[in-house]
Amino acid sequence: MRVLVVGSGGREHAICWALKKSPKVTELFCAPGNGGISEIATCVDVKATDIDGMVAWARENNMDFVMVAPDDPLAMGMVDAMEAAGIRAFGPRANAAIVEGSKAFSKELMKKYGIPTAAYEIFTDMEAALRYVEEQGAPIVVKCDGLALGKGVVVAQTAEEAKEAVRNMMENKAFGEAGAKVVIEECMTGPEVTVLAFTDGKTIVPMPSSQDHKRAFDNDQGPNTGGMGAISPCPNYTSDHAKTCMETIFLPTVNALNAEGRTFKGVIYFGMMLTPKGPKVVEYNARFGDPECQAVLSLLETDLMDILEACVDGTLGDLNVAWKDAASCCLVLASGGYPVAYEKGKEITGLDAVSDAVVFHAGTKKENGKFYTNGGRVLGVTAVAPDLRAAVDKAYAAAQPISFEKMHFRSDIGYHILDAQ
Ligand code: AMP
Ligand code: GLY
Repeated sequence: MRVLVVGSGGREHAICWALKKSPKVTELFCAPGNGGISEIATCVDVKATDIDGMVAWARENNMDFVMVAPDDPLAMGMVDAMEAAGIRAFGPRANAAIVEGSKAFSKELMKKYGIPTAAYEIFTDMEAALRYVEEQGAPIVVKCDGLALGKGVVVAQTAEEAKEAVRNMMENKAFGEAGAKVVIEECMTGPEVTVLAFTDGKTIVPMPSSQDHKRAFDNDQGPNTGGMGAISPCPNYTSDHAKTCMETIFLPTVNALNAEGRTFKGVIYFGMMLTPKGPKVVEYNARFGDPECQAVLSLLETDLMDILEACVDGTLGDLNVAWKDAASCCLVLASGGYPVAYEKGKEITGLDAVSDAVVFHAGTKKENGKFYTNGGRVLGVTAVAPDLRAAVDKAYAAAQPISFEKMHFRSDIGYHILDAQ
């Protein structure tokens, strides 16, 4: 099969790496890809958000299958457009990808179908939103409705802070139209866990649990980032949690989307909090998380291509999806200053000296046989071991030889969670 992966981050490198192992995949392409991906796939110079350009390229180049990994093209309807052109494509259609594109939609869906989540109200009127904050008091959570690169959420410790967030989103339009509508919700407590799941719209197959580390600095300090590292499985998530989540969250979500005429096929991301009253949904995403994907796919034993096809064809129930009985850690090496201001174009050295781990590239480019930084998150050093502590130790040891100017990484990925247990 001639297969195209859409996207350019560490997640897409991990997807390409897994697909490369499939005997079914004879030729692998990635648009636009990155320096690391260019080692295992042919990179194609089409932007991930260029729907028409991507469909035209896929058609001209006889793609048998397209895997759409990032949120934007999914929300924009790339899967719908591929299908309309007669090309098999993995990922939710736009009408289902809305679970990520609109927090208001997701909250209404959960309320209607009794799926556990934080209590909330939705506002399009700023004065009403400010009054609600005043009534409810703090702590309270303010979220803008649309996509805001993970930055449109403020967990406010005081009512003043919450009001400032409301004004910032609704009056100052800090996130543009994404903030025209805001969701204000109850502040939940408890450990966070992510469960990614494959679904064909009927059957849902959860992957091993995982946990991202969103803040830039150790001990969850500093600004929110795309993710500074991930581990899998998450030690806080027990088999009892898994059973409860399947019954109260995973299956009800798939069934709810079906009932709404928005059948979801692809990877659905359940961001959850294990509250004293049981697991509750924090957010849905319509795709693999990054860097959760790198950690989780490292544990996959089944051919990823078989799974992707089964999701598209509606035959996931016939497939046995197997995982290594092990743990993994993806440690992100970022550009100093990320996520605020950082430089690019720094030479990366030491990659050849890495052993016993896979280095997934995120923001890199390759020129004249050398790799250079080309983004905020640069690399994800990913290791697998029999238990979590060993996997984390191994990822840190493997990262040691790698260096570039102003390289920054957290020193507590995984340890932060192990130590809190
Ligand atoms: P989101 O973009 O919705 O995943 O929110 C980003 C982060 O904000 C989450 O990972 C949580 O740490 C935190 N958060 C979101 N909603 C809540 C909530 N209702 N209560 C407590 N923390 C929250
Ligand atoms: N790592 C979080 C996300 O991909 O949304």
